[in-house]
Amino acid sequence: MRPDKILMCPPDYFTVEYEGNMFMDLKNPPDIRKAKEQWNNLKLIYTKLGFEVILIPPAKGFPDMVFTANQSFPFVNENGKLQVILSKMKNSQRKDEVKYFKDFYEQRGYEILNLPEEIEFFESMGDAIMDYKRNIIFGGYGQRSQREAYRIIENYTGLEVVTLELINPYLYHLDTCFSILDNNNVVIDETAFSSDDLKKIQSYFKNVIVIDRKENMNSFACNCHCPDGKNVIVQSGADNFTHKLQTEGFNIIETDTSEFIKSGGSVFCMKMMLW
Ligand code: ARG
Repeated sequence: MRPDKILMCPPDYFTVEYEGNMFMDLKNPPDIRKAKEQWNNLKLIYTKLGFEVILIPPAKGFPDMVFTANQSFPFVNENGKLQVILSKMKNSQRKDEVKYFKDFYEQRGYEILNLPEEIEFFESMGDAIMDYKRNIIFGGYGQRSQREAYRIIENYTGLEVVTLELINPYLYHLDTCFSILDNNNVVIDETAFSSDDLKKIQSYFKNVIVIDRKENMNSFACNCHCPDGKNVIVQSGADNFTHKLQTEGFNIIETDTSEFIKSGGSVFCMKMMLW
């Protein structure tokens, strides 16, 4: 069952005030006025595509809360019940974001599932990316999520999990180097994976579209989002990439997320799909 709603968090308190990944640089702060405009544009894109955009109120002191891909892993269980696994954030600056999401999901009637004590970090859909059509989870590990978390995720969801180790420190979440377009097509930045894991990816997708490393670094194009198997929302300016996708028959929607890239995130990071 494909989700039809999008969860976003207004960037009222968005900024870069610590250096939590290779892109965050205190000497290169985002322009907040511009960031708000970019976020509004992205929200409008989802609305125009027919998705209902739901907002979680931003909390003061949480500059990364705008990246709603990371705090929760919602799913529908085999009995059709809405459940959500809460993340354990790796960076201390983000840990307390999760409680706002817990409240949000409780209000919407989701059953809350917590990770056991022995799991120290798991950042949900930054790393655990769903193929909604085949009901498979691709799980990145090694930087923001622990491999061991996926045994629990498999147990909670009852779904197959394909684990992928992230070996490039710049590509710190799976969504910075791997984006599912539909059950045949995936885009990847090859530099993120070992040769064994590249083979694993090939065995799950008929068409593996490889992005030029520089283009991914400059535009975060692998952080694109295809919410419906047709339209691909992507940071503007990744010309080779968009050309390749157009050749495969996808419709490209370019948008500027430059101020969020300064925090290490783009389109995919700023949303969570919900039912
Ligand atoms: N500054 C945020 C962090 O380092 C960016 C998160 C981006 N989210 C993502 N799903 N890749 O945690």
